[in-house]
Amino acid sequence: MDSVTGGLQHLHSGKVRDLYALPDSRLLMVASDRISAFDFVLDTEIPDKGEVLTRMSLWWFDQLADLVPHHVLSTDVPEEVRGRAVVCERLEMFPVECVARGYLTGSGLLDYDRTGEVCGIALPGGLVDGSRLPEPIFTPATKADLGEHDENVSYAAVVDTVGDASAAELRRLTLAVYARAEAVARERGIILADTKLEFGRREDRTIVLGDEVLTPDSSRFWPADQWEPGRPQPSYDKQIVRNWLLSPESGWDRASGEPPPPLPPEVVERTRRRYVEAYELLTGETF
Ligand SMILES: Nc1ncnc2c1ncn2[C@@H]1O[C@H](COP(=O)(O)OP(=O)(O)O)[C@@H](O)[C@H]1O
Ligand SMILES: [Mg+2]
Repeated sequence: MDSVTGGLQHLHSGKVRDLYALPDSRLLMVASDRISAFDFVLDTEIPDKGEVLTRMSLWWFDQLADLVPHHVLSTDVPEEVRGRAVVCERLEMFPVECVARGYLTGSGLLDYDRTGEVCGIALPGGLVDGSRLPEPIFTPATKADLGEHDENVSYAAVVDTVGDASAAELRRLTLAVYARAEAVARERGIILADTKLEFGRREDRTIVLGDEVLTPDSSRFWPADQWEPGRPQPSYDKQIVRNWLLSPESGWDRASGEPPPPLPPEVVERTRRRYVEAYELLTGETF
């Protein structure tokens, strides 16, 4: 990336985003059009995905501003990354992925099936994939290296890492953000099954919401009218890609360990439309 960011100090590349240092303890966070599926970053990009997710995250930060301050300072960014990058304040991040779950699936379901608990929280018996939980729960995880899965940990482990007061605050904020966002999404016919937040601290120790928030890359959005516990729920964004990759047409064998093939243009276009649709449905704005 190129000419503008080429002059900046590159700090980090995740699966789909790149982070650069700016003067005065600021960061440039750039969302690419890359997409991942089944833990692979695909060779094919989804046009506008970076911009859609950036705008979605900005919209949510706004909706949450009365609950918690956020890290975005400006959207005035170099031309090359216009629309899909933000300038933010550099925080000292808590080494905890702050997850809230209102529904059971993914790693939460795996833990539940093995132990009846998620992150040390005992749940009622008889829950299945997609079940709504009696109430939303805080299920923190520790961040894994690229390519590894995050590891669910107990609340006590968070206390050990960040101390009593911060742990309590992270839990409170995470559940407050989830409750707000879940209600907004529900009004729009979307179930927010779970979401992952990252918080950091300013030098004055204020806790600030960082990273990106409430995008399909950090959250599970399900069409409410297709919700049916007992099977994997169709995901709002990646279902088209997943279905195609698993279909005979793709020629890909997931069990082979080989990377998936490039996506055909028709699948790319449908997926792009899906992201735009999710953005428009949630925010009520036209992309
Ligand atoms: N305001 C911030 N200050 C410092 N680091 C941040 C801030 N916001 C997000 N980060 C960090 O930036 C990184 C973004 O990486 P990401 O693209 O999500 O890749 P991955 O999580 O796969 O490593 C994460 O390590 C996140 O904790
Ligand atoms: Mg991340």
